[in-house]
Amino acid sequence: TNGVTIIGSGSAIATQVISNDDLTKIVDTSDDWIRSRTGIEQRRVATSTTLSELAAEAGQKAIAHAGLTPLDIDLIILATSTPDDLFGSAAQVQSLMGATRAVAFDLTAACSGFVFSLVTASQFIRTGVYQNVLVIGADFLSRWVDWGDRTTCILFGDGAGAVVCQGNPEKDHLLGFEMCSNGALNNNLNLSYQGNLQDIGEDKQINHGGFQNITMNGREVYRFAVNKVPEVIEKALFRANLTTGDVDWLILHQANKRIIDAVANRLKISPEKVISNLENYGNTSAASIPLALDEALKEGKIKSGDIIAVSGFGAGLSWGASIFRW
Ligand code: ACO
Repeated sequence: TNGVTIIGSGSAIATQVISNDDLTKIVDTSDDWIRSRTGIEQRRVATSTTLSELAAEAGQKAIAHAGLTPLDIDLIILATSTPDDLFGSAAQVQSLMGATRAVAFDLTAACSGFVFSLVTASQFIRTGVYQNVLVIGADFLSRWVDWGDRTTCILFGDGAGAVVCQGNPEKDHLLGFEMCSNGALNNNLNLSYQGNLQDIGEDKQINHGGFQNITMNGREVYRFAVNKVPEVIEKALFRANLTTGDVDWLILHQANKRIIDAVANRLKISPEKVISNLENYGNTSAASIPLALDEALKEGKIKSGDIIAVSGFGAGLSWGASIFRW
């Protein structure tokens, strides 16, 4: 079977910055409360680009960084829970990038979407079906936040990040992974459809409702993340025949600084090895890991050969980890 390598990354950010102080004008909150409870200082909100456009921009940068052209890409997986179109946005992204040889589909797994997509991509590569796979994580949660709910609107932001995975007969850099979900905990974090039955006569009805804003039980999500994320990273490391001592960089889904600190602490991974850019972007859902990875790469932090542990967690509930070598 083919090995899997990650050969390029890219990201794209929404232009409009919303500071914590800006939020004090719409809800009863403060910069101090938001910083101390979450670590977030500002977030970005897309007002003039579609999700497909931002995802395509991140994808194009990743392809260029990998030294490829869009025509080299065989498969595009778009991890998103906030597509421009509920039928899927991946094909639109493919078209915007001119990746006309590629097949494209969406993968919905909330904040675990990037990790789940990376693992999915690797299966197609290992079997030799596809050689170059573009994985994009992009979310515009600003579209679905209740901007009058101070318990959630302070957390989220919009963004996109991408990596290019490539088959390699000699090297395998995707060292281990583990993915989990538990629908019994689903009601802790939702962006759900609510039906509305309408009579159409003859004792028949249609169900024509709509999607509700994000609802969240913050304390339960916090508890879940702090318990399950260290566990899933340890399992993925075990599969890779590694231990936490081998990890050069820890990149968690950027949900909350307190979650990141608590997970690193439980794993006894020192703060210098933790990559975080949460203060600038808030929680960008499926985009947060590739966005943080891309920034760290472009800053020159991550060196060739470094072992990186990534973990996504969120709605579903779902969580997962992947260990790879850069
Ligand atoms: N500003 C000021 N006060 C606030 C705000 C706010 N923005 N939000 C809540 N409060 C108040 C509450 O009303 C409460 O007041 P009360 O004690 O009078 O009732 C008080 O602050 C404390 O509220 P808690 O909810 O207990 O605060 P907590 O310390 O738990 O922090 C937080 C809340 C930040 C949401 C935390 O629970 C958390 O980060 N949870 C994880 C959430 C998360 O990461 N979700 C995303 C997962 S990823 C995905 O899939 C989308």
